[in-house]
Amino acid sequence: MPVLSNPASARRFFDRLAPTYDRINALLYRPEWLSEVREAIRGPRVLDVGVGTGHTTGHLEGAVGIDLSREMLRRARYRGALVRADVIRSPFRPETFDTVVLAGSFYYLPDPAEGFRAVAGLLRPGGTVVVLSAATRLLAPLVRILSRGEYAVLMEGAGLKLERYERKGWAVVLAVGRKG
Ligand SMILES: C[S@@+](CC[C@H](N)C(=O)[O-])C[C@H]1O[C@@H](n2cnc3c(N)ncnc32)[C@H](O)[C@@H]1O
Repeated sequence: MPVLSNPASARRFFDRLAPTYDRINALLYRPEWLSEVREAIRGPRVLDVGVGTGHTTGHLEGAVGIDLSREMLRRARYRGALVRADVIRSPFRPETFDTVVLAGSFYYLPDPAEGFRAVAGLLRPGGTVVVLSAATRLLAPLVRILSRGEYAVLMEGAGLKLERYERKGWAVVLAVGRKG
């Protein structure tokens, strides 16, 4: 298993990284990827999983951001609500959200099948999941890297259909799915 794919090590890692996270993120998270993630969001009820400091959905009044790391949440600039919890055991009712966003966070979940099942459970029927994730095998020792086929199969197993899979340069992928 990649070294950061368990909640305790991800939380410790991001608690330590939090003071410098925004500066590092500004170098890595390209504005065009951010625009594409935001454009893929549908409906007013949005859950941002691994919200970090709020970079992706901080502008949305009705959004909810969830994160394991107290230090990341402490620094978040967010118009919506922030909750400290693990998405796998989240406090939300089933079928609460129109869109669930995972920008740079899906690969930290220990079990991707369980991750998509948790996400699907939180989405209303017809809801959208937007995943921005690492795509280069160079990062495989640190985080999980999935192929297009693996995204399709894992989503299908959770009742989601992969509708979009687009490589963004050599390092990143945007995957969008819909709940049946
Ligand atoms: C790369 S960072 C945040 C990226 C953020 N979405 C952005 O737009 O800048 C990934 C975040 O995922 C969080 N995270 C990792 N596993 C998680 C889990 N199981 N539940 C909730 N948050 C998690 C980490 O604490 C970290 O803050």
